[in-house]
Amino acid sequence: MNKLVKIIHVAGARPNFVKIASILKACTKVSDVESLLVHTGQHYTDNMSKTFFEELDIPAPDINLEVGSDSHAQQTAEIMKRFEPVVLKHKPDAVLVVGDVNSTVACALVAVKLGIKVIHVEAGLRSFDRTMPEEINRILTDTISDLLFVSEPSGLNNLKAEGIDGTKVHFVGNVMIDTLEHYRKKSAESHILDDLELKPKEYVVVTLHRPSNVDKRRALTSILDGLAEIQKEIKVVFPMHPRTLKYIKANGFIKKSERLPNLFVTEPLGYLDFLKLMSDSKLVITDSGGIQEETTILGIPCLTVRENTERPVTLTLGTNRLVGTDTDRIIKGYRESLNKVIPGTKPKFWDGKASERIVQTLFHSL
Ligand code: UD1
Repeated sequence: MNKLVKIIHVAGARPNFVKIASILKACTKVSDVESLLVHTGQHYTDNMSKTFFEELDIPAPDINLEVGSDSHAQQTAEIMKRFEPVVLKHKPDAVLVVGDVNSTVACALVAVKLGIKVIHVEAGLRSFDRTMPEEINRILTDTISDLLFVSEPSGLNNLKAEGIDGTKVHFVGNVMIDTLEHYRKKSAESHILDDLELKPKEYVVVTLHRPSNVDKRRALTSILDGLAEIQKEIKVVFPMHPRTLKYIKANGFIKKSERLPNLFVTEPLGYLDFLKLMSDSKLVITDSGGIQEETTILGIPCLTVRENTERPVTLTLGTNRLVGTDTDRIIKGYRESLNKVIPGTKPKFWDGKASERIVQTLFHSL
């Protein structure tokens, strides 16, 4: 019999919900973990939050900090201010944070300052691009974590190079893939293709939300010009992130996109619909981190419109290619992926069991 371990799990933004879903499921399978879920409220609209809780069977948060959107400093500070009394009241053995969003670093910092252990799931990823807000969040969170769970081998190398004590680091695999494997069958029943009048393998899916791509006129124009060419040959479906929609509206791009007859902009989709949409697509074009991983497991070619990735295993073993934001490189990448499909192989421990490994390790390490 293990001792009872009390953990506060933190989730704030859309990709966090996908990761925490599997971790919480694994925790409920063992009687020795008491879990409390804190939603920071970084993402709050139904299609960025509530839908994910419903579809992924995530229990309602025990506490919602309701921070909402703001500048980085305001948002991070507000999460910290509202999270500190929660930790003081509930006195957990550890605070578990996932990924690399502002909620991740904010809650990790609160915990470490109160002498509470910090567990970071998806530790060690590095793009080596410090202009990305997520890279700063990743480095800071790893530095102050007591237990670091790594999803791919590059994470082990990066943490070692940064001098992080190897006894704190555990290579367990990818919790986002746990969730994918759990819901794959259910998502196959989604009607999204019928709803959008699509046929399998006759469309491309696009997602964009990185500030460096969507808040910058030059990068966004260049990517949209690439999509304008691609949609002449194949339907392009673009579930649009609110950040992207905001910028596109503010800059008159919406008219430009409306003139493209084969480009279909939708609201952000729920998990099951989006998984189905990716699974049946010809190609995915994205700047998301998680989607590079999901397409690798689904065996769908992925063009990443960035110059770097913090998930290099998706390039070496998976179906991912980096094409940057240059129009010609995007079009070239599109043509190459049609002509030469990279089959891709499954990275180690991306097997649906990462969360179980995490829970097992917790008992030995806390
Ligand atoms: C955040 C994360 C990013 C992650 C992404 C996933 C940081 C620094 N960024 O970026 O790493 O990949 O989430 O989606 O933590 N908005 C809504 N509804 C919501 C949430 C946001 O409309 O529920 C709008 C607001 O206008 C807000 C904008 O989207 O200003 C951006 O939201 P924010 O959470 O600041 O950053 P993301 O771009 O979503």
